[in-house]
Amino acid sequence: MKLVSGNSNPALAEAIATYLNVPLTKCVVRRFADMEIFVEIQENVRGEDVFIIQSTSFPANDHLMELLILIDAVRRASGRRITAVMPYFGYARQDRKPGPRTPISAKLVANLITHAGADRVLTLDLHAGQIQGFFDIPTDNLFAAPVMIRDIGDKFDANSSVVVSPDVGGVVRARGLAKRMGAPLAIVDKRRERAGESEVMHIIGDVEGKSCIMIDDIVDSGGTLCNAADALLAQGATDVTAYITHGVLSGGAVARITASKLKNLIITDTIQATEAIRVSKNIRVLSIAPLMGEAVGRTAAEKSVSSLFY
Ligand code: R5P
Repeated sequence: MKLVSGNSNPALAEAIATYLNVPLTKCVVRRFADMEIFVEIQENVRGEDVFIIQSTSFPANDHLMELLILIDAVRRASGRRITAVMPYFGYARQDRKPGPRTPISAKLVANLITHAGADRVLTLDLHAGQIQGFFDIPTDNLFAAPVMIRDIGDKFDANSSVVVSPDVGGVVRARGLAKRMGAPLAIVDKRRERAGESEVMHIIGDVEGKSCIMIDDIVDSGGTLCNAADALLAQGATDVTAYITHGVLSGGAVARITASKLKNLIITDTIQATEAIRVSKNIRVLSIAPLMGEAVGRTAAEKSVSSLFY
């Protein structure tokens, strides 16, 4: 097995390598003066099972291009099998046409990765499970829920908590967590009138006197979470904590969350934390490296990955 890392999240790649006790393959990814990407794999990968670890996070296009070029380099170096390990699959939110004459960019990106030469994809908490079908190659979609449930179990009592989906689209994810915790479920009915803005409409379910555990796949601007926290507290919730897999946290999101009424935001390390996240008072990071590492190891050994979740 060979583990190759792009530049998007070297800390996670190192942690996965440590978990597997396999060193990262020597490789340089650098830029020419005009910012074209150049890649050189500095070890033989002929006939190897190669896992390329790269989240297509900010700057999304650069990191996507790095991934494509790394795949191309390994393919031309006769890697036997190439798995694109994308802890965070950027562009996933563009999974349907929101209006006429708009693209389905998630499908385009899936095509690019496949045509570059990937044989498999390994990812985590896809924005919508059906994005797996955008890839015509085997795609494993892992879930961060077991990692979050362990943390939640240490900090919350199911009898005084309620699991909350911050929008209708996330109900299936939240219901799954509520069921595993034995806690009730509430839903924030949110309408987004314009891209980049979110508006809370009302709360479905009883949150009065309860600790709310919000769960979602992505926190980007933080607008959804902060608005939902305000609405839940206005309905009598005692406190609101959010567990979100992918901390995209663009622009002023960290400052917005720090100044918000959210007690805590817990994200995973699918996207490398910025300094602002690291020093933030109410943002904490859980590592999914052992989960991803285990899935990589099982894929290499042709063992079941889905059984990680039963
Ligand atoms: C939307 O469907 C996603 O699940 C997230 O709720 C959304 O991407 C969060 O975005 P923001 O933090 O910008 O409100």
